[in-house]
Amino acid sequence: MFNKQTLKDFELKGKKVLLRVDFNVPLNSNLQITNDKRIRETLPTINYLIEQGAKIIIVSHLGRPEGKVKAEFSLKPVAERLRELLKKPVILTDDVAGPDTFKYVRAMKEGDVVMMENVRFDPGEEANDPEFAKKLASLADIYCNDAFGTMHRAHASTTKVAEYLPSCAGLLVEKELSVLGGALENPARPFVVIIGGAKVKDKIALISRLIEVADAVLIGGAMAYTFLRAQGHNVGKSIIEKDKITLARLLLEKAKTQNVKIVLPVDHIVTGEFSFSADYVVSTTKKFPRTGMGMDIGPKTIKLFEHYINKAKTVFWNGPLGVSEFQRFATGTNEIAKTLANAKAYTIVGGGDSAKAIEQLNLQNKIDFVSTGGGAALKLLEGVALPGLQAISEKL
Ligand code: 3PG
Repeated sequence: MFNKQTLKDFELKGKKVLLRVDFNVPLNSNLQITNDKRIRETLPTINYLIEQGAKIIIVSHLGRPEGKVKAEFSLKPVAERLRELLKKPVILTDDVAGPDTFKYVRAMKEGDVVMMENVRFDPGEEANDPEFAKKLASLADIYCNDAFGTMHRAHASTTKVAEYLPSCAGLLVEKELSVLGGALENPARPFVVIIGGAKVKDKIALISRLIEVADAVLIGGAMAYTFLRAQGHNVGKSIIEKDKITLARLLLEKAKTQNVKIVLPVDHIVTGEFSFSADYVVSTTKKFPRTGMGMDIGPKTIKLFEHYINKAKTVFWNGPLGVSEFQRFATGTNEIAKTLANAKAYTIVGGGDSAKAIEQLNLQNKIDFVSTGGGAALKLLEGVALPGLQAISEKL
């Protein structure tokens, strides 16, 4: 699918490899990592490099420090976790490709791991600055991009640097591209897609593209209300995007001409206000209260969605089906997560909130593939060219 080199195409012994990873992991207020999936998923690449006798220089961002050094965005907790997982020393430098980094890199031996501080502490990173990219490149012999979650950003360490070094994709990037790309190219059918989330505007391109490949598209989350409105239903005070109603109608028509079923909620958890503790009633679409607000899919919709999931051979899910950040309105999201975990189909979960729900319920081992990419996974599925991928592909 993509014309690029992989790590396995290179002789790595004794070579310094600049390894871009996405260790942008969630931290709590005590700066402790609350989910280390992105670190764990990169271990095969790091271990492979260690086994091959490479010298590994890790580059990652964490959060959005906006080109300034900010202690709360330090990679310290990440380096600590990586040491535990690799069971070996990992040096975290004090700077970003500065004197401290060069000092440690010069002293590296085969199999050593050095991580530089948050690459976004340098304004050159997000500016995709050639001078900063050259500085990064001057540290190493080979550039490897394994930061799937950041492939949609054109930054110095994800794109520009590839102009100055022999470049390749890491093992995680390979895996993500093959599963997500494969799902679109040749899914086992029926292929059922579940899309949730708050805004139609964030998911239009995705839905439009998925209509072309899926057999059924199940829509939940706040977005469903704009679609229901487009079908002429009363949705009370539910949050809808008025300027997207026509677009929703066009997507419904597109699905009809492609013979793809769009399945919208048939019942709802309805409150009088947007609050985590609001009282609710269960209401069908036909009897939606005029002053009510939809907060989650109802029990009949859960059953309906389950019916489609259980008939499917491939299922892709992205986005919560209700206001899942409020426990009371997370039932739809959690029930669908559980159904997916028990489904016979090959199950794929795109990153973000749906991946979070899977992890919170400890179901990650029962899903065939949970992507490490949020925005990047969506862009890939939408068919948008990822700058990070283009940068390492064009070099062939
Ligand atoms: C992500 O978490 O989606 C990636 O790490 C990219 O982060 P960003 O949205 O801050 O560029």
